[in-house]
Amino acid sequence: MEKQNSAEYIINIKNLDLFYGKFQALIAVDMLAQKNMITALIGPSGCGKSTLLRCLNRMNDLIRGVIITGKIEINNLDIYSKSTDVTELRKNVGMVFQRPNPFPLSIYDNVVYGLRVAGVRNKTELDEIAEKSLRGAWLWDQVKDKLHHSGLELPLDQQQRLCIARLLAVQPEVILMDEPCSSLDPIATMKIEELMIELKKEYTIVIVTHNMQQASRVSDFTGYMLLGEMIEFDKTVNIFTRPSNKLTEEYISGKYG
Ligand SMILES: Nc1ncnc2c1ncn2[C@@H]1O[C@H](COP(=O)(O)OP(=O)(O)OP(=O)(O)O)[C@@H](O)[C@H]1O
Ligand SMILES: [Mg+2]
Repeated sequence: MEKQNSAEYIINIKNLDLFYGKFQALIAVDMLAQKNMITALIGPSGCGKSTLLRCLNRMNDLIRGVIITGKIEINNLDIYSKSTDVTELRKNVGMVFQRPNPFPLSIYDNVVYGLRVAGVRNKTELDEIAEKSLRGAWLWDQVKDKLHHSGLELPLDQQQRLCIARLLAVQPEVILMDEPCSSLDPIATMKIEELMIELKKEYTIVIVTHNMQQASRVSDFTGYMLLGEMIEFDKTVNIFTRPSNKLTEEYISGKYG
């Protein structure tokens, strides 16, 4: 891995172990993610990609019997420290899932949901943020005349962008995406990939993907995981053209996985 000034990093994972009961799903994982970059996690099914992603906003806290040791710092703050406000953390580190999960509410109410929960009542403010967030997710033109229709009426790709708009409304720094295109067709996938590249100007993105072409198209850094270990982490171009670990080479050349 090329040496870089650690001040550029927003996410710093150090020696992370995670157990689901007796089963160890993450083994001594180290990873650094740079600000305003897209970091991709790849590897065969069950290797721990989603588990690692969920650690970044403490979603694993919701699963019984999970034990985590090691450290994750975001902006130099230990997110597993007792003083961490988990609600704040999840606002700052938002997550987009495999299947779009809009709430059964109007498009508008979906986008401003987090703001309302935070107590914002001013209509002008809510309207402004709704428009800005929908524009940021490239959805404004498609929905501006039907903001009060249900979010569930939208086509799947627009539902996924609605979920992205809902995150943008609460101004996160980091966006986690767990296979965000796996339920979308190739054209919708391309649009989300283009959107990701636009979003990284303002946000830091960590994406899990099964699609190696996708990782190579959109990401700046890639981590290859296998059986709970981070086998190799490097610039995406290095991972896909000259990996230094034989296991990575075997995976990206399609020998298994
Ligand atoms: N809630 C859970 N309880 C127990 N074991 C779990 C739980 N979630 C995941 N695991 C196990 O942890 C390992 C890692 O799972 P994880 O979902 O993180 O893998 P993944 O790389 O995201 O896989 P996929 O590509 O199939 O989504 C797997 O062996 C899985 O069975
Ligand atoms: Mg997964």
